[in-house]
Amino acid sequence: MERLVLYASKTGNTRQVAHAIAEETGAELREVTGAPLPDLSSVKLLFVGDGNYSGRPSKPMQAALEGTPSLAGIKVALFGTYGANAGHLDWLASALTEREAEVLGRFACPGRDRFLLGLFRRRRPSSEDLEAARRFARAMAERIA
Ligand SMILES: Cc1cc2nc3c(=O)[nH]c(=O)nc-3n(C[C@H](O)[C@H](O)[C@H](O)COP(=O)(O)O)c2cc1C
Repeated sequence: MERLVLYASKTGNTRQVAHAIAEETGAELREVTGAPLPDLSSVKLLFVGDGNYSGRPSKPMQAALEGTPSLAGIKVALFGTYGANAGHLDWLASALTEREAEVLGRFACPGRDRFLLGLFRRRRPSSEDLEAARRFARAMAERIA
């Protein structure tokens, strides 16, 4: 398991990006449920993604990272979806670097709002968003090749 995509996604937006990244890079895909993270000792490139919930990732992702004492030496690429901005990626970057992971880059795009009748950002992530996510994933994989 050299490449792994870890994601959480309450309404499915970030899941679409996670699937595109995993397909593009041949990475394994795991949904984070709040339990401690899986054994990452063989992982050379870790993608971590979630939606923005009040400037943070979702509770399961917060719990999983907070329950992981060290990620020393692991190279991480962040991704996410959001309504207004991708500030939650700052939270993720801080949590990861505090645990001595190395953050290589980040990708974010808007995600459809499924709480207000799905009226806003209806077609996001769009096919262009997912193509951009694939490009990002390739670039990250090339950096560690
Ligand atoms: C309770 C709640 C809080 C949210 N807070 C924010 C926020 O602070 N900033 C933002 O940009 N988007 C916010 N959003 C929008 C989500 O980040 C966006 O819909 C995202 O695509 C959800 O991703 P997911 O389906 O993968 O969980 C919020 C959505 C909900 C339901």
